[in-house]
Amino acid sequence: MTSVRPPRFCEHQDLGDHQGLMDDVYRHQRYVYDFTRKFYLLGRDHLIEQLNAGPNDNILEVGCGTGRNLLKASHLFPGTQFYGIDISQEMLATATYNASRTPLGNRCHFGQGDAAALDTFPLFQRTEFDAIFMSYTLSMIPPWEQALHEAFALLKPGGKLHIIDFGMQQGLPKWFRAILSRWLGLFHVSPRADLPHALSALATREHADVSYHSLYKDYCWYAVLTRPA
Ligand SMILES: C[S@@+](CC[C@H](N)C(=O)[O-])C[C@H]1O[C@@H](n2cnc3c(N)ncnc32)[C@H](O)[C@@H]1O
Repeated sequence: MTSVRPPRFCEHQDLGDHQGLMDDVYRHQRYVYDFTRKFYLLGRDHLIEQLNAGPNDNILEVGCGTGRNLLKASHLFPGTQFYGIDISQEMLATATYNASRTPLGNRCHFGQGDAAALDTFPLFQRTEFDAIFMSYTLSMIPPWEQALHEAFALLKPGGKLHIIDFGMQQGLPKWFRAILSRWLGLFHVSPRADLPHALSALATREHADVSYHSLYKDYCWYAVLTRPA
């Protein structure tokens, strides 16, 4: 029988109202999250494939939720170490449980933190990452531009920040956009119309490269910012 070392997990902090809201949203949802979200959080696997992680790389997901993406990535990239932060204690409980059920979880480390004030050293004794990704997270963070800057600041020279999130669904029927918008509102999700503009501004300021793709008729946006080497 394989013994599974429990993943490292940093203890509870009080991160204020937004943590309370996220815990309320996910207290029950976390039990059905992975099954239900696979139908509408599109493009996540595309992002994971694009990570192209090496065996000694350290990769951080900001807003890691149930750990679904990190566990998939650890399957795809053996040897890489993966780190996940989330503001919700409820989501982290599920992430830790999921990781404890597979040997892949040995390479996934979780900690509680706020994307808008990222401090990974107390959680992981690490302040730089080869790649960072944010999957359907910016649309749930009120100061999302701040979160973008915080994540970019933790990249090693030459490192990449990958983002997947809701687009404006310009290529989809109006009725579909209306239903989706009401559905997302129930979960406090606000697609960020200004994301392309914020990415360009950050890239200009930091002399970074930015690539940007609209996927599935503009259902979602995938972007990569590369820090200069
Ligand atoms: C829609 S879920 C996405 C989870 C995962 N990234 C995925 O692709 O399945 C958004 C996640 O962002 C987290 N989150 C929201 N605001 C946050 C913040 N300020 N700091 C860190 N995580 C946050 C939520 O708790 C939730 O787990």
